[in-house]
Amino acid sequence: MRLSIPQFASLLLLPLLLIACRGQKTEKPPISPQQNMQFQDRFNAQEENSFFDNNMAMRYPVDGTVSRGDLRHDSTLFEGRDENGEFVTEIPMDVSRSFMYRGKERYDIYCSPCHGKVGNGQGIIMTGQYGYVPAPSFHRQASYDMPDGQFYSAITEGIRSMPAYNTQIKVEDRWAIVSYIRALQNSQNVPEEEIEQYDVDLAQLQTEFSEEQARQQALAEERAAAAGEEEISAARGEQLYTANACQTCHSLDGTRLVGPSFAGLFGKERNFADGTSTVADEEYLKQSIVMPSAKIVDGYDNAMANYDYLTDGEVQSLVEFIKAQSDN
Ligand code: HEC
Ligand code: HEC
Repeated sequence: MRLSIPQFASLLLLPLLLIACRGQKTEKPPISPQQNMQFQDRFNAQEENSFFDNNMAMRYPVDGTVSRGDLRHDSTLFEGRDENGEFVTEIPMDVSRSFMYRGKERYDIYCSPCHGKVGNGQGIIMTGQYGYVPAPSFHRQASYDMPDGQFYSAITEGIRSMPAYNTQIKVEDRWAIVSYIRALQNSQNVPEEEIEQYDVDLAQLQTEFSEEQARQQALAEERAAAAGEEEISAARGEQLYTANACQTCHSLDGTRLVGPSFAGLFGKERNFADGTSTVADEEYLKQSIVMPSAKIVDGYDNAMANYDYLTDGEVQSLVEFIKAQSDN
């Protein structure tokens, strides 16, 4: 095949064109043959404008302007706090059956993946393998005592390592969720006499309950048996420390995070919020992991979730790892 001179020249130019595309940065405006509406005579937010005395392009609303539609002066409704900044103890909306069902629907979408469908903190992503900070159960005394406003605030502003959901969930829906969480809490605390008033087969429930207990018991025994063959070591504990997100609350260098540091913890005297104290031995460390709310270290919140899904070997490895933080 023979090429004419222009054809030959364009073949030579082709690599040059490609080179020109290689990631160099330029401060110059891009060449845009087709301009559409890329260049407009307008000001961007925060831009300067010498037309005004204060050189700001953005203007304040005219004095006396009344906000229409998005005025959020009602702190009870929008922040869950009264005029003194305290959390309100009642939902500032009409709690009807449909309102609560709306809350259930929103809860199932936004909260249940972590806090679980029944609010026990065993949501689908809390299986330990994803390394997410465990979500606490709502069936703890601390949660029962929590004012409604604080639940609302947890959704609106987030709480410690939990992100805020205010961009996804509307104000009314947040309160609806709070009402549904209260319903979940009540559902786990009904005295027998009250259950009997409804058309419920109590004997049947009790059988199911004992069966479930037996299943859990068998599972625990299985785990205990398996633990005999499990590796128990500080090295494994170190992996578990990150895999279970312990490091978000416990440092290794003495820094105080949400929880106490593990540095020098083993063998140290611990003082608890209830005035008692103990020495941090293996038994204490184990209990602190599996049932942290049994003893609350003085000066800290009851903020740690139960890690009772860990196997005995895993708990023991964590204990070995914590012990190793006292060796130097
Ligand atoms: C991605 C997982 C995740 C989702 C989704 C989630 N949470 Fe949480 N939540 C957490 C974690 C983790 C904590 C514990 C944070 C900590 O202690 O650092 C927490 C803590 C809380 C607390 C404080 C509980 C206590 O006893 O201190 C409340 C209240 C709460 N969440 C409510 C909600 C509500 C309501 C929703 C749904 C709108 C929700 N959460 C969705 C993970 C989640
Ligand atoms: C959401 C934050 C958080 C996470 C995650 C967390 N903890 Fe805690 N932990 C705390 C807080 C707060 C305390 C102190 C209050 C208490 O005693 O329950 C504590 C206390 C402890 C204690 C007793 C400490 C002492 O000084 O006496 C041990 C041991 C412990 N945690 C182990 C663990 C292990 C192991 C993990 C991971 C498997 C873990 N924690 C994950 C918050 C957390």
